[in-house]
Amino acid sequence: MEERKWFKEMSVYQIWPRSFCDGNDDGIGDLKGVLKKLDYIKSLGVDAIWFSPLYVSPQADYGYDIADYCDINPEYGTIEEFKEVLDRAHALGLKIIMDLVINHTSDKHEWFKKSVKREEPYTDFYIWRKGRGKNGKKAPNNWMSTFPGSAWEYNEERGEFYLHLYAKEQPDLNHDNPKVREAIKNVMRFWLDMGVDGFREDVITQISKAEGLPNGSPFMPASRGLSHYDCGPHIHEYLAEYREVLKDYDAFQVGEAPFMTPKKALTFVNENKKELDMMISFQHMEADCIMIEWMHLPFNLVKLKKTYNNWQTMLFHRAWNVNYLENHDHARIISRYGSEKYRVESGKCLALMYSFLSGTHFLYQGQEIGMTSLHYDKYPKGSNPWTQFKDVSTFCVRDLMRKFGFSEKHILKVATTAARDNARTPVQWDSTPNAGFCSCEPWFTVNPNYKEVNVEAAEKDPKSLLNFYRKLLALRKEYKDAAIYGEFRIHLKKHKHLFVYDKVAEDGSKLTVILNVSEKPVPCKKVKKFIPAGAKEIISVYDGSFAELMRPYAGKVYYTPVK
Ligand code: GLC
Repeated sequence: MEERKWFKEMSVYQIWPRSFCDGNDDGIGDLKGVLKKLDYIKSLGVDAIWFSPLYVSPQADYGYDIADYCDINPEYGTIEEFKEVLDRAHALGLKIIMDLVINHTSDKHEWFKKSVKREEPYTDFYIWRKGRGKNGKKAPNNWMSTFPGSAWEYNEERGEFYLHLYAKEQPDLNHDNPKVREAIKNVMRFWLDMGVDGFREDVITQISKAEGLPNGSPFMPASRGLSHYDCGPHIHEYLAEYREVLKDYDAFQVGEAPFMTPKKALTFVNENKKELDMMISFQHMEADCIMIEWMHLPFNLVKLKKTYNNWQTMLFHRAWNVNYLENHDHARIISRYGSEKYRVESGKCLALMYSFLSGTHFLYQGQEIGMTSLHYDKYPKGSNPWTQFKDVSTFCVRDLMRKFGFSEKHILKVATTAARDNARTPVQWDSTPNAGFCSCEPWFTVNPNYKEVNVEAAEKDPKSLLNFYRKLLALRKEYKDAAIYGEFRIHLKKHKHLFVYDKVAEDGSKLTVILNVSEKPVPCKKVKKFIPAGAKEIISVYDGSFAELMRPYAGKVYYTPVK
């Protein structure tokens, strides 16, 4: 039987602070803005907020480059304002989860500045190596960073290279140094003592690098060397050590785990050990691409079902996972797996698809109103479209593609559908200029569809995606024995458009989820036999019963009580 825990039953709302809500009207989202919207967040029926990094940061990677782990970025507010948010959230029954970015810091962090100068105890806080070649200016190995380009940067002052698996402004910490691990544990305690309820741990499976830093396969154009740092030699040891910190608190840890498979996941979380409580894995985000969105393919539901089936069945009663379709690193899901033409319908269908899976439920800001990706062809003619992008990884991939000889037109086309910028436009609150995010120039483009797609309009419409999510999240709890803890049983594995599954509770009651995840009408007779006699419909994309043809993105969930 699955052990029941509060964090398994949660739905977590992710705030990417820069674009959530601007409370002081300077064009940048902040904690004052969050305070204004706490009641709204609570009204969704979620249980927790995960803050993407709020800490002091030069924003080279929008907060994932931290210059001080124990203070708030002045653009976002103060530590006092954070405490106010924390208290008000707790009073509303909302937990608060902080992003813990410990694979790397900013190059502006005091630790790094002192490390450059070889000031103790910071000399070996980062991964420094002598260069190769006659003049020592050739990188120590052939690793490439995730934001493509060499994973090494030469530092004149120290006369050595430092490793950075992400941007050059994000030097990797040396977790092999016990003093680094102590410093990180102090950071964890700082926030736990303040009362936060857990951490989302950034690219946590990459913190241990292979001894000797051997060369990676020369065929990888990005992340070359990955096999030498993905789940590296000491990863389990270090995670167990960080885990120890939590034992004095009622807190939990979710680890971001790129390249994770269910088999590997079970080495971190299983019946006997819990180095993490759950993982943010990526395989289900690859149903329209090869590994990353920039290598685009048509959406493939069969591939997606296979992935869900693997994760749901292999982890059942053994480990726990996260279910999400959006976050700040992926283009908007309606623009990927759904259809902008059927924006609300496909948004609802996708919501049904992932909300009844076992795992902790995550929802990203703006997803609840069906925000879509940006499209550069809607920008004024004659403007330089690249000025519309802000994300460091967008420019790195663009430059790599240029090197490989792709045409500018092609690169731009891919960027407009794949770039992380797509998820980072300001949240659309109402139909006033700048979508009510601010009255001055916002830090980033507002999606031009804000007049139609915004919270205020969605609030007024009983059939909006927003109100659908509210209902859905309530149902997920009401039927939690099946929805959250039940066994996943899939039907029609090979069908290109239909996704049909049961979630069966221990007492035999079950939920049946029937979806047409496509724009194509599908004959209803294909699914009729899966609707159990005596089942009651609990939620539906469209009103009324299925007609002869299931309409685009039609979907229903049925509940069958114990016989
Ligand atoms: C994670 C974050 C992403 C960031 C990267 C480096 O994947 O989600 O936004 O760029 O780590 O910290």
